[in-house]
Amino acid sequence: MALRLVVLASGTGSLMRALLAARDGSFDVAALITDVPDAGAIAIAEDAGLEVRVVRRDDFADRVEWDEALAGAIGEFHPDLVVSAGFMRILGAAVLADFPDRIINTHPALLPAFPGAHAVRDALAAGVAETGCTVHVVDAGVDTGPVIRQERVPVQPGDDEATLHERIKSVERRLLVDVVRAIAAHGLTVHDRKVTIA
Ligand code: GAR
Repeated sequence: MALRLVVLASGTGSLMRALLAARDGSFDVAALITDVPDAGAIAIAEDAGLEVRVVRRDDFADRVEWDEALAGAIGEFHPDLVVSAGFMRILGAAVLADFPDRIINTHPALLPAFPGAHAVRDALAAGVAETGCTVHVVDAGVDTGPVIRQERVPVQPGDDEATLHERIKSVERRLLVDVVRAIAAHGLTVHDRKVTIA
C-alpha cells in the first residue's frame, strides 16, 4: 500500500511540487496543511486535487491551542508520514505526540550548522565556502532532530540569499524525494537518535 503523506508548507511550495511530481505508486500525498492563507503552495495543492487546510496561528489564543488544532487537521488525513517542506513554525507537543518519529523536515543548511528560519542568510553572513541541505526527523527542538540525509552545496562568489537558496533548493527537492521513496520502500525507525531506513 502507498505511504500516505500530509505535507506542511508555508511558502511557495516548490518542494511539495517536487514531491507531487515524483508520486510513483509507492507514496501519495493526501493533503496540504498551511499556516499562511495566501501561501503559493495552496494553488499547487488544489491543482493536484489535494485537500487543503489552513490553520493560522492568529486564529488561536496561544501556541498550545494552535498546535492542538494543527494536530487535529493533520490527523484528519491519517498520514503514515508528515513532511514539513518549508513550514516556518515550530511544531508543538500535541503534533509531536500524535506522530512520534513520523514527521520529517527539510532544512536549507548542513545541520547542526545554521538552524532556524534564516539558514541561508546566516550561512552567507558566516562566509562559509559551502552549505547544503538536511532532511531530518523532527523532535521538540529547533532543527535538532536526528539527521536522515544531507547533501553539500557550494557557495559561489557573488551569491545573494536568493541565488544561494535556489541552488540549495534544486538539491533539496531531489533529496526530499529520495528520502520519501526510501521510507516508502523500507520504513523509518529511530532509536537513540539513530535513524534507520531499512
Ligand atoms: C526550503 O528551502 C526549506 O528547506 C525551507 O524553506 C524552503 C521552502 O521552499 N525551510 C526552512 O527554512 C525551515 N526552517 P519552497 O517554498 O520553495 O518549497
